[in-house]
Amino acid sequence: MFVNLISKLISTSSKKPTNSTIKRSLSTTTIMSSDKLKPIFDKLFPQIDELKPDFINVLKQAVEIPAVSSDESLRPMVVKKAEFLASQLKSLGFIDIQLKQLGTQPPPVNNPNLQLPPVVLSRYGNDPSKKTVLVYGHYDVQPAQIEDGWDTEPFELVVDETTQQLKGRGSTDDTGPLTGWLHIVRAHIEAGIEFPVNLITCFEGMEESGSLGLEDLIAKEASGYFKDVDAVCISDNYWLGTKKPVLTYGLRGCNYYQVTISGPKADLHSGVFGGVIAEPMVDLMQILSSLVDSQGKILINGIDEMVAPVTEKEHEIYKKIDFSLEELNEASGSNTALYKTKEDILMHRWRYPSLSVHGVEGAFYGQGAKTVIPAKVNGKFSIRTVPDMDSEKLTKLVVDHCNSVFKKLGSPNTCHAELIHDGAYWVSDPFNAQFTAASKATQVVYGVEPDLTREGGSIPITLTFEQELKTSVLLLPMGRGDDGAHSINEKLDISNFINGIKLMGAYLHFYAASPEN
Ligand code: BES
Ligand code: MN
Ligand code: MN
Repeated sequence: MFVNLISKLISTSSKKPTNSTIKRSLSTTTIMSSDKLKPIFDKLFPQIDELKPDFINVLKQAVEIPAVSSDESLRPMVVKKAEFLASQLKSLGFIDIQLKQLGTQPPPVNNPNLQLPPVVLSRYGNDPSKKTVLVYGHYDVQPAQIEDGWDTEPFELVVDETTQQLKGRGSTDDTGPLTGWLHIVRAHIEAGIEFPVNLITCFEGMEESGSLGLEDLIAKEASGYFKDVDAVCISDNYWLGTKKPVLTYGLRGCNYYQVTISGPKADLHSGVFGGVIAEPMVDLMQILSSLVDSQGKILINGIDEMVAPVTEKEHEIYKKIDFSLEELNEASGSNTALYKTKEDILMHRWRYPSLSVHGVEGAFYGQGAKTVIPAKVNGKFSIRTVPDMDSEKLTKLVVDHCNSVFKKLGSPNTCHAELIHDGAYWVSDPFNAQFTAASKATQVVYGVEPDLTREGGSIPITLTFEQELKTSVLLLPMGRGDDGAHSINEKLDISNFINGIKLMGAYLHFYAASPEN
């Protein structure tokens, strides 16, 4: 079947050469024509299988470093993980490895001198006759504690032989996929196969906290380190379900807000002060509950009007996608869905905004029954944004809404609502040269044509790459929809890890051989 598939793919991939191909074709040693690919994959894929224990071992070392970007006290660990990656890159023969410093983290922070984690830039190969692909990933992770309900230590990679899964924080988001780019280079070296493109890595340590500082770096390096980049590939999302591979052409944006209510100077005894002073927590609860209703409807005026209307053609997209309510229930581990049809679920995940309330800093949350009045509380919530919402306009609506609700409470406390970070939404053309190459690669590795999906999650820097480098961006996921990113027992199936690495390799070869950029 493999042979038939390859020859079918080869017969459909010869297109009229463009100027840039003609330029590149002058160097016959490096341009890979498609008929050369089968013998390459025949050598490369078994090599990847053979290196599986090594690949898992590298991932294990990386997962053991608790690189939680949102926890100021763990910042040295984020830096340590960057250094670990740099040493791995060095041993693989990457050149021009730089840990780019981004300066101090902007407020709100506890430590005003807190340094942002470095961005790991490096190159593998520097051949002007080859295309250059920039791969982006993030080495920071979400917080995790065993008390949250993990079955095993979150910062230890557990290889579960029964389920054939790798369990640990970052396994799927995004340490597993990020290290995949290193592994595909290693596999080429071991198999003695020429690497098809020049690879540039851009690995950041602040993605889970809004990619602070990265935008400026990309703008600056667009004419520097990233000068020759032809395409950007990001492996930091997931299949929609658990069986069918996908390629992703859209993300929602994310505007993250904090509303702070301050009252007394310190936490107080509720027996002494209860009923006598205005409680910050009570004010905050009223504000938070005014943002969204239990059906998921955003209650802030003016937001709906910014959302691009659904087109007739758009309905067709959802029909073709392999997904169901049952899969949503399985992934959430519950029957708590707000919508019943596939189309409604996907539209509300992909193309409508949503507002989530995340937590309250400063509130009592431990076990037992502490009788305290918290003095100052920060409510955190975010809005997933979609075309054609304007971030600044949205922030004005949100801040005005919070202030006006607070004013109506007539409270003597103070209220301050602010934006913590915003990352743009992104929608691309899923039929360009990169997506075509990735689709062929998926067919070779998985034997099926991938579904084309958008995501409800956000990768703030995606649009910046597209705009600053003037290239297309492809989202090439490794993990599955039930991997539990940000949740307890985050996992990556070993088969997704290994096939994901093969997919990265096949995509690079097909893209290198494609006549367009
Ligand atoms: N890998 C995710 C992005 C993602 C999430 C893709 C869900 C597809 C589905 C990324 O690490 C992430 O979690 N991003 C944050 C960004 C936020 C902090 C601005 C997110 O989406 O919450
Ligand atoms: Mn991620
Ligand atoms: Mn994440």
